[in-house]
Amino acid sequence: MALPNNGTTADDSRFDWNSARTLLAGLPGGGINIAHEAVDRHVAAGQGERTALVSLGRHYERHKISYGQLAAASARVCAVLQELGVQPGDTVAVLLGRSVELYQAALGIWKAGAVFCPLFGVFGPGPLRSRLELSRAKVLIATETLYSRKVLSIRGNLADLRHVLLVADEPEQSIGDHAGCDDFRARVATAQPAATVATTEQSPAFMHFTSGTTGIPKGAVHVHGAVVSHLLTGQQVFKLVPDDVYWCTADPGWITNTVYGLIVPLVNGCTALVDEAEFDPRRWYGVLKDEAVTVWYTTPTNIRMMMRYGAALARTYRENSLRLAASAGEPLGAEAATWGEKTLGVQFNDTWWQTETGAIAIANLADDGRPGSMGRPLPGVQAAVVNRNLSKVEVVNDPDAVGELALRADLPSLFSSYIGDTSRFQSCFIDGWYLTGDLVRRDADGFFWFVGRSDDMIKSAGHTIGPFEIEASMMVHPAVAEIGVVGKPDLLLREVPVAFVSLNPGFEEGDALRTELLYYGRQHLGSAIAPREIQFVEAMPKTTTGKILRRALKAKASAEPDEDAVLPTSGYPGRFDDE
Ligand code: WT7
Repeated sequence: MALPNNGTTADDSRFDWNSARTLLAGLPGGGINIAHEAVDRHVAAGQGERTALVSLGRHYERHKISYGQLAAASARVCAVLQELGVQPGDTVAVLLGRSVELYQAALGIWKAGAVFCPLFGVFGPGPLRSRLELSRAKVLIATETLYSRKVLSIRGNLADLRHVLLVADEPEQSIGDHAGCDDFRARVATAQPAATVATTEQSPAFMHFTSGTTGIPKGAVHVHGAVVSHLLTGQQVFKLVPDDVYWCTADPGWITNTVYGLIVPLVNGCTALVDEAEFDPRRWYGVLKDEAVTVWYTTPTNIRMMMRYGAALARTYRENSLRLAASAGEPLGAEAATWGEKTLGVQFNDTWWQTETGAIAIANLADDGRPGSMGRPLPGVQAAVVNRNLSKVEVVNDPDAVGELALRADLPSLFSSYIGDTSRFQSCFIDGWYLTGDLVRRDADGFFWFVGRSDDMIKSAGHTIGPFEIEASMMVHPAVAEIGVVGKPDLLLREVPVAFVSLNPGFEEGDALRTELLYYGRQHLGSAIAPREIQFVEAMPKTTTGKILRRALKAKASAEPDEDAVLPTSGYPGRFDDE
């Protein structure tokens, strides 16, 4: 497709967001509220009996919750928050697992006009404290265990935090004795439902701290008006209809769960599957099949883990109800995208977005995809490859030229601020473009290909190399389960690419395999960009959202060689608790 000079497709610039907004119900007295679009509008339309949630506890305890029940419970949460003095615009932090209470809490917070701020349960007291302070949360809703382990010790430092509501870890139980805490379930059960506060498109609705690999947390704030993008992307990317059973596996601390686990299935009237358990391939395959999941949204890390368990196990679950699967968060290589087709009978579509964009912006679609690419901008999204030039951006139209991905700043789902950091927020925008910090190239057909975060680029012998290009080629080797490539300082070449590799079952780490992988790299990538060094690791260091933590690999790569480096083995935790 030919692209006009402004770097957008003709269709995109004709897209009319105002007529898209007419798809929303709107509050009876005027205004927009996510909770109303997610549950109350369906109840008003006589759909209150339909199943909103199917929840699975750790021991497979199964509960069905209707739209009517969820609407009523969230109106009671709204009342409890108002009794505690929560005003529109106040922040309510949440530290819950994937559970029905998470849905009740989020919807109740929106009904009260407050700002939903979910945090990662894997964070320790330090990162939780800085986020609770930055968000100025007045109320915290947490599980009893997460509160006792992680918040109790810092509570005295949190000047803004006035109340804590606790959810007992086991269903049907009440909480133990905790000073200054109330039982969430008990209070909600006895409250009188309250009416939804009148919010507008510009009212803040939720805040997420970016999973960032840079260290300093940024709290991206999103508004109620974003719900139009949530409704539409659910239809554009997943073709959602009310009969769908939709499963998003993201952690509640990640925006992917707030938007695609909570809001998107409900505004589209589907049944959302809520599985409390952590990742376990056998359980996941079983859940997909037994719960007749039709649409599945997960991450490349999870897909690679499932691949690692082998195609034979996957094929035993081939008789499933899936019609569509997609992933986000990291590049999904062509390997992984097509693996699903061979084993589960459904292809994985890669989708691209960020905490800041608030909704999927670029995606492969079932009928318009290119495995290995991020896909094409969705209708209504104007995306371009640009070069930053001091305070100007220059749109690059040559196919395959590498530059920074920029989006026109008129997206309804785009963040409205970084909490407490106006200058950082403003520095993301130039000439009406939002600059993403991701490097990409766009091919002649308009598909975008991920090259890397601008901070992750490897500069070697005059080339600038995106780690993902190397990783994607090396992933094709049958021994490689996961790979992370970083630059290692080099006197002569400035940097050289070093690959950290975890192996598939049946492969032995050792010099023979190392030599084979180095040779394989040179053959497929050419000696200029092939890895110069291979280090075997048991597991990759990951951020809480499953992104390879290149910063940790970089530190490891730059370290002086020690004795272990002669035959390196593992030594990495799979997951970092703190940033
Ligand atoms: C960063 C955003 C998935 C989103 C929710 C929030 C990387 C994301 C892809 C993809 C290559 C991707 C980018 C982006 N990323 N999706 N499909 N292909 N890279 O995510 O935690 O704010 O992270 O994740 O670098 O900027 P986030």
